[in-house]
Amino acid sequence: MDVIVYHNQACGTSRNTLRLIRNTGVEPHVIEYLKTPPSRALLGQLIKRMGVPVRAVIREKGTPFEELGLDNLALSDEELLDALMAHPILINRPIVVTPKGVKLCRPSETVLDLLPVEAMTDLDKEEGSPFLTDTAIETSQELIDALQTAGLPTDDLNDSGRSFFRYSKLGGSPVGFGGFELYGSDALLRSMVVSPDARGQGIGRNIALLLSRRASDLGARTAYVLTTTAAPFFEAQGFKPISRDEAPAAILSTRQAADLCPASATVLAKPLTF
Ligand SMILES: CC(C)(COP(=O)(O)OP(=O)(O)OC[C@H]1O[C@@H](n2cnc3c(N)ncnc32)[C@H](O)[C@@H]1OP(=O)(O)O)[C@@H](O)C(=O)NCCC(=O)NCCS
Repeated sequence: MDVIVYHNQACGTSRNTLRLIRNTGVEPHVIEYLKTPPSRALLGQLIKRMGVPVRAVIREKGTPFEELGLDNLALSDEELLDALMAHPILINRPIVVTPKGVKLCRPSETVLDLLPVEAMTDLDKEEGSPFLTDTAIETSQELIDALQTAGLPTDDLNDSGRSFFRYSKLGGSPVGFGGFELYGSDALLRSMVVSPDARGQGIGRNIALLLSRRASDLGARTAYVLTTTAAPFFEAQGFKPISRDEAPAAILSTRQAADLCPASATVLAKPLTF
């Protein structure tokens, strides 16, 4: 399979994506886009094939995003493309092209959607946590048992508008679950649980990221969580506590929010950028 990676060697996610592709037995064609940037026409085509607005591939961190005023939502796609061509560091990475499509692969496991799904062996990211695969699931006894054991609610699992996933290591051993409820551009991340024997390896953090990306691909722009016990876990990943007054009505009227005692539950929010 022909695979092209627009790569930045200084970026951990880009390096992890290459590592994951190579673990599937594919040697990709690596383009260091800061040295040899794509033409304007090619970049425009790649973004079109991704099916996202130009803004979705712009990197803010470590770039002149702010000084160029690119937070101005009135800028057109053409003006944004001009900025990307003038400053290739603004192109987020890695962008991967395969016969199955084009994606900005953040988190790195996003690339698995673009590769042939074959038997894989367990592999760790550079920083030591295992790469994960996600599988969309219906409500199952296995999910209910895992949530109940962790003290998380299960009585609204079958309500509409929810998506649940099982997470496994690449070799197939299951490590946890997670889900979200989507309300337009707001997503409530929920039902995140890591098997007790798999905790403390970065799997929970990775599940939150993978869930956020799935929700973002369906239109979510802000992720919310409600928790009585795990606020520090989410704050370590960039979620900020907010007052109930600041939370959207749709999030407050979820059964999760309605059932939790306002005095003991924290609402946290995070803008979804990758
Ligand atoms: C919360 C939970 C998902 C974390 O999973 P995990 O795989 O152990 O988490 P990670 O290894 O990715 O931890 C990431 C970081 O958060 C910290 N952390 C983990 N759980 C934490 C908690 N409950 N409170 C505070 N910090 C926590 C870790 O120490 C780690 O910090 P570090 O990066 O400084 O080392 C897991 O403990 C769990 O399943 N708990 C029961 C269900 C639950 O509370 N879910 C959350 C509400 S939906």
